[in-house]
Amino acid sequence: MKIHIIGGGNLGTSMARGLNAAQQSYQISVSRRNISHIQHLETLGIRLTADNKQFLPEADIVILAVKPKQAEAVCAEVRSVLRKDCIFISVVTGLSIKQLENYLRIPDLCIIRAMPNTAIALRESMTCLASHTAHERQKQVALTLFEQLGKAIFIEESLMDASTVLGACGIAFALRFIRAAMQGGIEIGFDSKTAALIATQTVKGAAQLLLQDTQHPEIEIDKVTTPQGCTIVGLNEMEHRGFSSSLIKGIVTSYKKIGNMQKEK
Ligand SMILES: NC(=O)c1ccc[n+]([C@@H]2O[C@H](COP(=O)([O-])OP(=O)(O)OC[C@H]3O[C@@H](n4cnc5c(N)ncnc54)[C@H](OP(=O)(O)O)[C@@H]3O)[C@@H](O)[C@H]2O)c1
Repeated sequence: MKIHIIGGGNLGTSMARGLNAAQQSYQISVSRRNISHIQHLETLGIRLTADNKQFLPEADIVILAVKPKQAEAVCAEVRSVLRKDCIFISVVTGLSIKQLENYLRIPDLCIIRAMPNTAIALRESMTCLASHTAHERQKQVALTLFEQLGKAIFIEESLMDASTVLGACGIAFALRFIRAAMQGGIEIGFDSKTAALIATQTVKGAAQLLLQDTQHPEIEIDKVTTPQGCTIVGLNEMEHRGFSSSLIKGIVTSYKKIGNMQKEK
């Protein structure tokens, strides 16, 4: 399977490294204008080029990982050399499949939108995918690819903005929770390094409890909230001060902002 990534920035490079580590059978190449920044990838066997078109005639999968404002020009540049049977995956935030179809102008091309998050660097991303042109086999190929980099699901394209907020912005929301827990930990006696370790590993453990058993968080919360105990008084105090409410309002505000940004374009 030959995979070419256009745009070797933060996300493109993380994907190239992750896929390379995950699957020997993937042959990966990356293009960007200034390849001197990613020369280290060559030692991993990843091919580099400053010419976006060079590896495309042989690519089974093409991943577009440039900034939104660069996408139209890059699509116009490469469309004449894309294989008609390739799977074209865009991770560009806010760029719809309809816009990609207009930029690429290749009838029946399989176009898939993907929204990963920064944990892709550790192969722990949550990636939401959408397509209305991909066949089942092509969907399975894309799903398998992103499952090498964490967890992946197909959703309706109309939910892509929502997945951006919950999955990609969600990394910042979760990290801010950890930072606040650290600050509390310091106030009750820990140095910052120890508070960071305890807060971080506790969040990882909590997430794994849910991922393994796929059950509602409240079932696990019930297990640690003894009647009249110290957990329930802390939790209730947080709720009185708007803990869940502020998180929900933050998520909805981010979602509205994406909608407004798209209207302004
Ligand atoms: N980072 C995330 O967590 C995340 C999550 C989900 C989606 N996304 C989306 O993924 C895309 C990439 O994000 P990023 O954080 O990786 O951005 P980035 O670090 O700025 O990477 C963009 C890359 O595109 C390259 N580029 C620019 N013009 C190009 C051209 N004409 N041909 C080839 N390469 C070109 C740039 O390198 P040169 O200047 O050397 O060409 C740069 O390395 C964005 O659309 C973003 O919205 C990011």
